Amino acid sequence: MQTFVIQGGRRLEGDMTVQGAKNSALPILAATLLCQGESTLTNCPKLSDVYAACRILGSIGARCVMQGHSVTVRADAPSRAVIPEDLMQEMRSSIIFLGAMLGRMGQCSLGFPGGCELGPRPIDLHLQALRRMGVRITEENGILTCTVPKGLHGARIHLQFPSVGATENILLAAVLAAGDTVITNAAREPEITDLADFLTKCGAKIEGAGTGTIRIRGVKQLTGCEHRIMPDRIVTATWLACAAATGGELRLLHTDDASLTGILDVFEEMGGSCSRSQDSICFSGRKPIQPLRYIKTMPFPGFPTDAQAIVMAVLCKANGTSVMEETIFENRFRHVDALVRMGADIRIAGRAAVIRGVRQMHGAVVSATDLRGGAAMLTAALGAEGETVLTEISHIDRGYDSPELALQAVGARIERK
Ligand code: EPZ
Repeated sequence: MQTFVIQGGRRLEGDMTVQGAKNSALPILAATLLCQGESTLTNCPKLSDVYAACRILGSIGARCVMQGHSVTVRADAPSRAVIPEDLMQEMRSSIIFLGAMLGRMGQCSLGFPGGCELGPRPIDLHLQALRRMGVRITEENGILTCTVPKGLHGARIHLQFPSVGATENILLAAVLAAGDTVITNAAREPEITDLADFLTKCGAKIEGAGTGTIRIRGVKQLTGCEHRIMPDRIVTATWLACAAATGGELRLLHTDDASLTGILDVFEEMGGSCSRSQDSICFSGRKPIQPLRYIKTMPFPGFPTDAQAIVMAVLCKANGTSVMEETIFENRFRHVDALVRMGADIRIAGRAAVIRGVRQMHGAVVSATDLRGGAAMLTAALGAEGETVLTEISHIDRGYDSPELALQAVGARIERK
C-alpha cells in the first residue's frame, strides 16, 4: 500500500493549477452513454474513480479512451445493461449509471451500492423518482433489476432531500424520456449545472439547472459533443486549507469563482485574505487563524460537507474554539481520531465537533479513513511540526490528481512511497 511521507512546518508559496472536478466528470461520463457519436471531455482529472467510470462504460459496450486529461467516448451500440458488481462496490457513485442506462437501453441490472465510510448511503430517493417515470424495479439477493415495460415517461418529482445523485439520475433518465419532467427541491450544486450544460450541448432540453426547480423536455436523440469539465471546487478548498494551515500564500489558477459560494467566505472568516477573479484566487494565510464560532454543512449554496474535514484541519490551530455541525452525512467525523493523534483538541457530540485550537500540531503515523478525511490529514500534516506518515492514500487518489506533485511545486516536502 502506498503512503505519503510529509515533513511539515514549511510555508506553501507559489502557483497551483486546479484540476477538473471529480463530481462533475463522473455524471458526465455516465451521460455520454446517452449519446450517438463521439463525446470528448477535456480537463478530466486522472483519478481512480474516473478510471472506474471508464471501465463501467467499457463493460457496457462503449469505447472509452483516456489520453492525458481528455476522455473520448463512443457509445453507438451499448450491448450490456449491467453495472459490474465489483465496480459498484469499488465506487458507490456508480449508481449514477442507472439513469443513463435506463435512458439509453431501457434496462439495467446492478448491485446495491455499498454503504461507504460516510454512512449507509441509501438510494431510496433515486428509486422512488425512477418508479414515477415508469421504471419497474425488483430486488433479489441484493441485485436490482430495472426495466421500463411501457417506456420511460416524464413525471413531476419532488425530492424529500435535495440529493445530488438523485437529481443527476433523474436528469439522465429524463432527457430521452417521453414528455416533460419537473424536479422540485432539486440539488443546486454547480456540478448539476455542468452536467446540464453538457446534456444541452448534446441536444437535451433542460431549464433551471442550478435552481431548486429543473424542467426537462424529452427528445428523441442526443449527439455527442466536446465539453470541458468544470474546475474542482473542493480541490480548490483543499489547497486554500493547505495555505491557511502553513501560513503560506498561493495563487490558484483555473478556478471557478461562481462555484466557490459557501467556501471563500469561510476562509476569510478564519483570517485568510482572498483576492479573486473569475478564474483565479490569490490567497494569503499569513495572519493567525481565527475560530469559527459555529458552522454547519448544508446543501449548495451552503458550506459544503466535502469541505468539512479540511476546514476542521485548519481550525485545529485557531486562536479559540470552533463548533462544526455535519448535517449531510451520518458518519463524517472519522478523520478526528487522526487529527487528535497529531495533537488536536477535538470532541465529538453527536453531529457536532468542538475544536479547541492548539498552538502547534506534530507529525504522527495516521491512516486515511476516506477521501476528504485523508485530505484533512494531509492538510494538518503540512502545517504540523515534524514527520507524518499517511497510509491508505488510495482514498486520496480517488479525488486528487497527483496531489504530491501539485504540493511539491509550491514548496511542500511530501513523498509518495
Ligand atoms: C454527492 O454524493 C457527492 N459525490 C459527494 O461527494 C457529496 O458529499 C454529496 O453529493 C453531497 O454534496 C458525487 O458527486 C460523486 P447525496 P451523493 O445524494 O450524490 C442522503 C466526495 O467527497 N440520501 O446528496 O451520494 C444520503 O444518505 C463525495 O467527493 C438519501 O437518504 O450525495 C446523504 O445523507 C462524498 N437517499 C445525503 O442524502 C438517497 O436516495 C446526501 O446525499 C440519496 C441520498
